[in-house]
Amino acid sequence: MVFPPSLEGRSVLDVGAYYGYTCFEAEARGAARVQGIELDPHRFRRAMLYKEAKDSEVEFLNMSAVEYQFVEPFDYLLFLNLLHHIRQPFSLLERALPIVQERLVIEYPKKPIKRKRRVEMPIKRILEYCGKFFKETKTMASPCKSGGRPRILAIFSQKNRV
Ligand SMILES: C[S@@+](CC[C@H](N)C(=O)[O-])C[C@H]1O[C@@H](n2cnc3c(N)ncnc32)[C@H](O)[C@@H]1O
Repeated sequence: MVFPPSLEGRSVLDVGAYYGYTCFEAEARGAARVQGIELDPHRFRRAMLYKEAKDSEVEFLNMSAVEYQFVEPFDYLLFLNLLHHIRQPFSLLERALPIVQERLVIEYPKKPIKRKRRVEMPIKRILEYCGKFFKETKTMASPCKSGGRPRILAIFSQKNRV
């Protein structure tokens, strides 16, 4: 759902990469350049171990997306289950969306919950915000997760840039 069968020659930026499984999948589908940003040092280290074991060329960065400079263009930009962890998601999106060359993919919980000292932004507001940059969002119940909270998968295409 997130990727077409072939990503031949494409570049992919996965924000909140966890152990890097989506990055490795992009590489397996032929992506020429894959970068994964992961804040948690344990997850980052695990991703680096998998990278070594797989002899992969995925680039993992152990840093916050909030600190990342969104300058280099990427064909695919992924925010899979990441934005509800960010205190100011619109500020991150505003910096990140200009670099998308082909597709922006957001996976987000269907219903917001109260986190420590704040309530998650409702998905409706995230989609409205992205709608200022891309028309005709394709949204669906996420088929990517088997357990946990129900998620929405939203796909925005560069062809529909406002
Ligand atoms: C819920 S997990 C989602 C992982 C994966 N993208 C997926 O959909 O399965 C969120 C990931 O984002 C990471 N994360 C949280 N805040 C972050 C930030 N500010 N910058 C980068 N990564 C962050 C967490 O450590 C965690 O690995």
